[in-house]
Amino acid sequence: MMYASTGGTAGTGNAPGRGQWSSGLGFILAAAGSAVGLGNIWRFPYSTGENGGGAFILVYLVAVAAIGLPVMLLEISLGRATQKNPVGAIAAIRAKGPWKLIGYLAILTGLGILSFYCVIAGEVLAWFADYGQRTVTGTSMLHGFGAGPSIVSFVLFVGLTVLVVAGGVQRGIERWAKILMPLLLVMMIAVTVRGLLLPGAMEGVRWLLMPDFSKIGWKVVLEAMSQAFFSLSLGMGAMLTYGSYLSKHQNIVACGTWVVAFDTLIAVLAGFMIFPAVFALGQEPGAGPTLIFEVLPKVFAAMPGGAFMGMAFFFLLGVAALTSTVSLLEVVTAYFVDELHWSRRKSVVAMGAATVVLGIPSALAWAGVDPLATVRILGQDGLFSLMDFLWVNISLPLGGLLLCVFASLVWGLDAATREIVSSAPRFAAFAGIWRFFIRYVCPVFIAIILLTRLVPV
Ligand code: PHE
Repeated sequence: MMYASTGGTAGTGNAPGRGQWSSGLGFILAAAGSAVGLGNIWRFPYSTGENGGGAFILVYLVAVAAIGLPVMLLEISLGRATQKNPVGAIAAIRAKGPWKLIGYLAILTGLGILSFYCVIAGEVLAWFADYGQRTVTGTSMLHGFGAGPSIVSFVLFVGLTVLVVAGGVQRGIERWAKILMPLLLVMMIAVTVRGLLLPGAMEGVRWLLMPDFSKIGWKVVLEAMSQAFFSLSLGMGAMLTYGSYLSKHQNIVACGTWVVAFDTLIAVLAGFMIFPAVFALGQEPGAGPTLIFEVLPKVFAAMPGGAFMGMAFFFLLGVAALTSTVSLLEVVTAYFVDELHWSRRKSVVAMGAATVVLGIPSALAWAGVDPLATVRILGQDGLFSLMDFLWVNISLPLGGLLLCVFASLVWGLDAATREIVSSAPRFAAFAGIWRFFIRYVCPVFIAIILLTRLVPV
């Protein structure tokens, strides 16, 4: 259901053959598929654990509302107005000058995120594939298995992503996602309930609900803001590109708001799925990127049919991750197809290969064979957290910042507002607030936070 099967987009102004969502629901499902993934279920919980629990969640919710939602509407409207990939979209408005660099940064960031995202997604795949074996022997790929399996499952996941994007079988995948994503939600609720029933779980609930404001500092604010960009797939043109396939009749505000609300709901639910169990099982909330892999199998073990539940959960999480990696590769592919006129197949294979090359060091680091084990760069321990820092903490907010500046100074917020209001007349009443956020609040806020992190005071 992703694209209309023909280029029959007459009357909407879309380029022939470029394809289009068959309905607004099609966009919402695909965009929600992009947004919901490891960001919500893997990164949000460990980030919450490292940054103080309830207080972090509060700052996160503010970041989603004050920065995530406005930038979401901006990306979708720029995509729909230009019907292009990030580089093409900027060039369609201002071909000269340095502005196109924003588009190139988006493409590069897409590849960068793919390279380490597929490592974790591969880990999820491996848990699915040999769930029984792992829980019986107590060994996980994280430690003691060596780097081989980590690289193999990473490359496999890149391969899966390449297959989906190359075949243009998004239509198939989205159809499956329609069934599997609600199933993931049901499963998460079941695991949450089981976790809450463990003795001592209420300690975790308290930790989530009672914000300790002494925990909030610049680092927490930066982390919450970049988590919002990452989780909502913002700052690297994914929503822009998906918006470019949206018909002129669809309501950008309704679609964007749904995606933001759904993504946020899943993240908060993931928090309630993990932390009561963390406290009940006496685990360390700040365990970092391995957190969910250490906690969840123990919760499944306490459930009837636990091995099956565990397998099913990691399968569904793998599918959620795949709909996210597909959107990352789609952005990069759209650029090569639209701008450089490569064939879809050639672009996808070449970029898949680039992802593998870029990601091997991360896969090694994840398996404990860290090329940067003994050096600290930019305050990050190890290559994996350096990658995460560069692409998620720096690149995404920077991309969002530059897009706000571009929209305010070059594209013009009048044009942006017209694009949104054309299919959402009631937005006119809020347009003033939105413009204030895009022109001042978002860029100033993002700039201050990035500076406090990059310039050591
Ligand atoms: N939002 C995705 C997730 O939460 C990750 C992602 C980031 C996808 C940026 C596309 C672009 O898993």
